[in-house]
Amino acid sequence: MSHKPTHATAVAHPNIALVKYWGKRDVERNIPAVGSLSITLDGLTTTTTVRFDPEFEHDVFLLGGCEAPKMAQRVVGCLDRMRRRAGVSMHAVVESENDFPTAAGLASSASGFAALVIAADAALGAGFDRSELADLARQASGSAARSLFGGFVELRLTPDGPYPTETRQLLEPRAWPLRILVAVTDPGPKAVGSTEGMLMTELTSPYYRDWVESSPADLLEARSAVERRDFEALADVSELSCLKMHAVMLSARPGLVYWNGTTVECIRRVRELRADGVAVFFTVDAGPQVKAVCLPEVYERVERELAAIPGVTSMVESRLGDGARVVEDRR
Ligand code: DP6
Repeated sequence: MSHKPTHATAVAHPNIALVKYWGKRDVERNIPAVGSLSITLDGLTTTTTVRFDPEFEHDVFLLGGCEAPKMAQRVVGCLDRMRRRAGVSMHAVVESENDFPTAAGLASSASGFAALVIAADAALGAGFDRSELADLARQASGSAARSLFGGFVELRLTPDGPYPTETRQLLEPRAWPLRILVAVTDPGPKAVGSTEGMLMTELTSPYYRDWVESSPADLLEARSAVERRDFEALADVSELSCLKMHAVMLSARPGLVYWNGTTVECIRRVRELRADGVAVFFTVDAGPQVKAVCLPEVYERVERELAAIPGVTSMVESRLGDGARVVEDRR
């Protein structure tokens, strides 16, 4: 293993969970309480460069050119796990850029940690396989493991496996080219971060156990819908999982209300369109943005309808994208 200065750059895209992850089986090791199923986007990108140098005395993390102390702690934790496994002690400078708003429910931590593990692995020449990289990304942020893969992705709980979770691609992006529209209703940072929100929910919601116990059935239904490319079935189970997650969030004490009025209006509009036979469904994460997933032929109609809702400040369009990958490797 080299101990000379090295660097590599990777890109990764956010993903949107259709069957949601909310809650932790093990907080220390960041093991999710439930499996999840997501789609990886291609319209939004995180680019991360990692430079290791024996001269560096500590790690530095810059997000969009600025220090981001809260995120930096998690970045250092992730690098420490990678250095331990690779038997390297060099510190690193990590520079990350998002071409979309951070912390607005667009899953920047997912693309951020996916790009980080891929870039750090390449810079170190560690040669970790995808399962190990997915495990490293999952320890940094549960949803990040899913951004290592493109298209439709499932993260399963595998308590008896080599790693506590296993992430794999179900369908590649071109196999079922759905389109995604994100209706941005508030570009500001979210009030309560996911990690904190999950713990509050687990500790205080009377419905938490039901949420966890009902998740495997949703996962099974969604996996089968993806395998059959059955849009209606995927729409049904995705909206169910989203609303159940928000129901358990709302029932925490104090209740976690991530939505605003425009979020509700967008959901209503998508439901009306769907009732009219338009192939679209919604999903919402720990923030107020509404993600509409649709077939390509109704995309323009859905965009027109959502853009016309007062309070929608911008729209982000996306297709399904590929998994995280190295774009420059200078070892
Ligand atoms: C609502 O992956 O951000 O987006 O593991 O604590 O970093 P940590 O949580 P995170 O949670 C994502 C929650 C969600 C649903 C999902 O993406 O499955």
